[in-house]
Amino acid sequence: MPVTILAIESSCDETSASVCVDGAILSNFIANQTVHETFGGVVPELASRAHMQNIVPVVDTALQKAFPEITTSAERLQKLDAIAFTQAPGLIGSLLVGAQFAKSLALSLQKPLIAVHHMQAHVLANLIPEHRPSFPFLCLTVSGGHTQIVLASSPTNLKIIGETIDDAAGEAFDKSAKLLGLPYPGGPLIDKYAKSGNPLAFKFAEPQIPELNFSFSGLKTSILYFLQKQEPGFIEANLNDLCASIQETIIRTLLYQLEKAANISGIKEIAIAGGVSANRRLRTLLQEKAKENHWNAYVPDIALCTDNAGMIGIVAHYKYENGEFSTQDVSPSARFPLG
Ligand code: KG4
Ligand code: ZN
Repeated sequence: MPVTILAIESSCDETSASVCVDGAILSNFIANQTVHETFGGVVPELASRAHMQNIVPVVDTALQKAFPEITTSAERLQKLDAIAFTQAPGLIGSLLVGAQFAKSLALSLQKPLIAVHHMQAHVLANLIPEHRPSFPFLCLTVSGGHTQIVLASSPTNLKIIGETIDDAAGEAFDKSAKLLGLPYPGGPLIDKYAKSGNPLAFKFAEPQIPELNFSFSGLKTSILYFLQKQEPGFIEANLNDLCASIQETIIRTLLYQLEKAANISGIKEIAIAGGVSANRRLRTLLQEKAKENHWNAYVPDIALCTDNAGMIGIVAHYKYENGEFSTQDVSPSARFPLG
């Protein structure tokens, strides 16, 4: 019998629900929270409130999209074999909303509950049926809160072999964007303006960090000092070039360490994941590096890069097969190391 799982993601500022059958995504509905735009970052209190407003309609929409032929919510819920949710890491107030909803639903439907690690889900977003890496593979996971090189030996055996010692790559995008006067989240906007800019127009410090680690806090300072020296109107007149140059610095830093990891490990199955993996320049340069190094490169669909419940459903499928269920006393956790 096929296994149908409802997965819920609420770790940060996206409320998302997905229905997966045997690990294949039937629906993956995401409600973005625009309330944070003017604050330059996610405001935790506002995020929790928005999750509270969104969670019921988001789950209902995901169920409707998965089972359009069924007319009532009660009947759609009867199709489910398990309820999965993001347990960690994330903003605790946001996680609590998804966790509490999932626990209540599992209890009322008398179905198993599956707790999922958000960073494992980003990596496993690459395990879609059409084009998936074989194990072992390396995954560069780049999001708003994390920057990691992960050695994936199996769906459940993930080891971090390199990570940021300060800011995450997504933070580097968002903080740079803020310095340029752009709203949050700045990553997609830098990507957009960079398209018409010259990546070599301006030079910013490229951090040289030992082993396979990263550091992005110096970049922000270097951009700040550079901008302070310019005349008024400089940013507006050079926005495309500034975005392209900043983006190039971040992406080249990421790929330099990824290439090092591939050379050291000898692994040629290379994936990327997380919100920053939606970045066009990263996707293009990864393919170029793959050609140069004879890698097989894997790049998730954009909808599976930024936070979404589909990736939670993929992990939940493996956990269901292994009988890894949670009890009702499971609680979310803001910090929880991968592996
Ligand atoms: O994975 P994600 O949706 O949430 C976290 O788990 O953090 O990642 C969000 C991050 C934000 O910093 C956002 O600016 C960045 O991903 N991001 C991008 C792009 N799309 C999202 N950064 C650069 N280029 C993009 N196209
Ligand atoms: Zn994420």
